[in-house]
Amino acid sequence: MLADGYVLTGRDSTYIVQDEIGRGGSGVVYKLVDPKTGQLFAAKTLSFHRFSQKELKQRFRREIEIHQQLRHPNIIGIHEVIDDSSGCILITEYASGGSLYDCLSQARDEGLQLPVPTVVRWLWYIARALAYIHSSGLIHRDLTPRNVLFRKKDLPAVCDFGISRHV
Ligand SMILES: Nc1ncnc2c1ncn2[C@@H]1O[C@H](COP(=O)(O)OP(=O)(O)OP(=O)(O)O)[C@@H](O)[C@H]1O
Ligand SMILES: [Mg+2]
Repeated sequence: MLADGYVLTGRDSTYIVQDEIGRGGSGVVYKLVDPKTGQLFAAKTLSFHRFSQKELKQRFRREIEIHQQLRHPNIIGIHEVIDDSSGCILITEYASGGSLYDCLSQARDEGLQLPVPTVVRWLWYIARALAYIHSSGLIHRDLTPRNVLFRKKDLPAVCDFGISRHV
């Protein structure tokens, strides 16, 4: 758990924890700000309830190692990895537009139909990311609307390499 206001010291930056963004199957994601530049980041941390601490740490290390191999406009970018006293923390860019899941839920709740050209464009971006992942000798294995985030409005990026594998 990282409390609001907790300070993380990175390679070139200091980050302040602003908020918890959400929780997934293996950990908690926080929003961070670099007070010098005002730039926002996301921090993924582990929670230890589901697996043994050792197994979880190994999985997280593998996730980071795979994610670090990937640099692409349609993949959430890693900023750095911090070995903090509270554990290993993955610092990535902050996706301000929420997830594709949020977007689809909102459209459904409001009874709206997304314009076909928009959906085709998003699928094209996601397919480009997948083609790049595959050409890097990896498979994602967990591509769901929750694991597609919008870097900015209309620019989807794939994230979450927790169960990805080399092929
Ligand atoms: N880089 C990021 N920028 C902004 N929000 C993020 C970022 N990474 C994750 N999130 C958000 O944090 C929350 C938790 O993400 P996480 O990937 O841990 O869980 P999940 O995708 O909901 O579930 P799963 O464990 O199945 O992947 C989600 O709401 C997700 O949209
Ligand atoms: Mg996820």
